[in-house]
Amino acid sequence: MENKKTQVAIIGAGPSGLLLGLLLDKQGIDNIIVERVTGDYVLGRIRAGVLEQGFAKLVREAGAAEKMDRLGEIHDSVEFAFNDERIELELKKLTGESVIVYGQVDITKDMMEVREQKGLETVYEASKVQPHDVKSNKPFITYTKDGKEFTLECDYIAGCDGFHGVSRKTIPNDVKTEYEKVYPFGWLGLMSDTPPINPHLIYAKNNRGFALASMRSKTRSRYYIQVPLDDKIEDWSDEAFWEELKKRMPKSARKNLVTGPSIEKSIVPTRSFICEPLQYGKLFLVGDAGHIVPPTGAKGLNLAASDVATLYKIMTRVYKEGDEKCIEQYSPIALRRIWNGVRFSWWMTDLLHNFDEKKDDFDKKMENSELKYFLNSDAGKKVIAEQYVGLPYEDLE
Ligand code: FAD
Ligand code: PHB
Repeated sequence: MENKKTQVAIIGAGPSGLLLGLLLDKQGIDNIIVERVTGDYVLGRIRAGVLEQGFAKLVREAGAAEKMDRLGEIHDSVEFAFNDERIELELKKLTGESVIVYGQVDITKDMMEVREQKGLETVYEASKVQPHDVKSNKPFITYTKDGKEFTLECDYIAGCDGFHGVSRKTIPNDVKTEYEKVYPFGWLGLMSDTPPINPHLIYAKNNRGFALASMRSKTRSRYYIQVPLDDKIEDWSDEAFWEELKKRMPKSARKNLVTGPSIEKSIVPTRSFICEPLQYGKLFLVGDAGHIVPPTGAKGLNLAASDVATLYKIMTRVYKEGDEKCIEQYSPIALRRIWNGVRFSWWMTDLLHNFDEKKDDFDKKMENSELKYFLNSDAGKKVIAEQYVGLPYEDLE
């Protein structure tokens, strides 16, 4: 058994863990990341594409924004399409802010590179990762690497290990409450090196279901369609995907769809999940480890970033001012913003997907009325836009 020591032990080298680690280092707070898989495996997960300005600011503060600022695209608008009617939501005009389109894979890679350049330790391919004594003043993590057992002593543990990680499981059942809504459909995503169908993202819905046209650059597109939960990826050839996508896009956009071979194709389930509280003793849950939203509102990674911002401020105060009491502010501050994001994602998901038998004629009339109400007035559009670009971060007391 080999012993190591750090101030903050971070479990998980996804975007949450990497961003937190770089920010803590900026304040001179020592940290080690312990990750279950290889760096390449982490980078194989194609997920988010839309970043709020709050996230971008943090990445700049972390010193990892050079590529994001050079290659990321500023989007001042997004579009909604219901059947063939297209409605532009002018984010910048309505809120004064825009979003950045830059892939999660790229931002993760950028942060990994800066971490490596700075010589900060990340243990990849660590198995049997387990937090211990999180209610005591001497918490620690144990893990196995290359057949050898390690103990990592620390002051605090940041559980940045995603929805399937070990951190949340460490909080006893009688302490935590979990809220969950599982949707009866998944998202089938396809990435291709083809120019995007439209300069803005299009969130579309018609009687065949939901579709999203997104992108990574002028030459790389990312598309999604709603599919039944039991569909298998083998059932979806590229041709079948393109055909279905075309049918779900508004007519006026279809002629611009350029198809090509997929470079990635996968199905993800959709759910909302929230764990309360997000702090237990010296353990904090950050990002997907504590909460999940369906991707419709582009909020998952952005909520992870606001968790990181709050924990970063708390850790800075703990180490700079010796104020340990402020750690109790983490869960309430993070959860207030999370529940807003959860509500927005739930609302977008409800409005944009087909629930078939789950909605009766009355529900469908309500949906139609809600749509008209929100998308036909500046006030309604502003309500959607201010949430899409991201609500402000809350400060510590
Ligand atoms: P993760 O990315 O899950 O990282 C957790 C890390 O912990 C992983 O590397 C994992 O290997 C590691 N780990 C797990 N268990 C252990 C263990 N026991 N020990 C050590 N390490 C462990 N969000 C947005 O904001 N905008 C979007 O546009 C958007 N689009 C999305 C599209 C799709 C299709 C999907 C699926 C998600 C999307 N999201 C979006 C959500 C976003 O991808 C997640 O919220 C984000 O990945 C959360 O980051 P994380 O670091 O908290 O967790
Ligand atoms: C993406 O580009 O992957 C993306 C964009 C917006 C979303 C979800 C995913 O709401």
